[in-house]
Amino acid sequence: MHGDHAPATSAGPAGPAEPSASGQSSFDRVIAGDGRIEPRDEMPDDYRKSLIRQISQHAHSEIIGMQPEGNWITRAPSLHRKAILMAKVQDEAGHGLYLYSAAETLGASREDMMQALLAGKARYSSIFNYPTPTWADIGAIGWLVDGAAICNQVPLCRASYGPYARAMIRICKEESFHQRQGFEILLTLSRGTPAQHELAQEAVNRWYAPSLMMFGPPDADSPNSAKSMAWKIKRFSNDELRQRFVDMLVPQAQALGLTLPDPDLRWNAERGHYDFGELDWSEFKAVLAGQGQCNVQRVEHRRRAHTEGAWVREAAMAHAAKKAARQQQSARGAA
Ligand SMILES: [Fe+2]
Ligand SMILES: [Fe+2]
Repeated sequence: MHGDHAPATSAGPAGPAEPSASGQSSFDRVIAGDGRIEPRDEMPDDYRKSLIRQISQHAHSEIIGMQPEGNWITRAPSLHRKAILMAKVQDEAGHGLYLYSAAETLGASREDMMQALLAGKARYSSIFNYPTPTWADIGAIGWLVDGAAICNQVPLCRASYGPYARAMIRICKEESFHQRQGFEILLTLSRGTPAQHELAQEAVNRWYAPSLMMFGPPDADSPNSAKSMAWKIKRFSNDELRQRFVDMLVPQAQALGLTLPDPDLRWNAERGHYDFGELDWSEFKAVLAGQGQCNVQRVEHRRRAHTEGAWVREAAMAHAAKKAARQQQSARGAA
């Protein structure tokens, strides 16, 4: 998952000031040559801040994204389904971890990022403020939400910042598994009883438009995109990625025996792409502004989980301190 291209409210501490003239020219050279910027390289402050914003929003999205699905672990229809879903939700926690670590290499502190999320100040993807009322929603999330995440994230595997790009490679491998498990849930329901088929169709009806909005606003309303493309963080525009996603979904929906809820969806032979209808951006903006069905609930739940997990963090810190002390002692003994 990724952030919503929203203004930052939680950047980490400012890194070093602007690079020296030689630092700037080597940065420009690396970007022009499609190379990678690494943590110790000099980089413009804007680049650093923009990455911290994007990566931390992305990390928060992975962590908050565990909730709509975690909600179904105990209610998944079989032991097998429970085990798969539990593994998936665990993967998302891992994605959060890789991404917080990538943001830390830019000078952001984990504690600050966490506090911003718990205080309700940090952005995360709006898609996770929608509820999951039925089991079929878990299928629709895997197919559509993880599917959109893949379209967005595969190009990020070539992002100019090394630690981010490398985290994305691992994440994308796992996301493609997530997408298939969602597809398989929907396929099973779609081929089941008429009531099960209906359940699958209704979930797709709920998640289709929100998943298209995950690519962010239309290019004309996406002022940060140009800079991000010049820095080779972003490789394709929001509208290009959205088109790619719709083109991918249509044949998959046919294979599922489900329809996509858009009367304007049709093949355009001239363009070689599917045309699709206007999206309702007023709804997107309302959810982004905190008026989604689950905004308050998601942050409250995260806060509770953080408080309840305090003893685990304390125990891990105490263990790490003991281990470090033992190592020091044996190093002294050896000397
Ligand atoms: Fe993920
Ligand atoms: Fe995922």
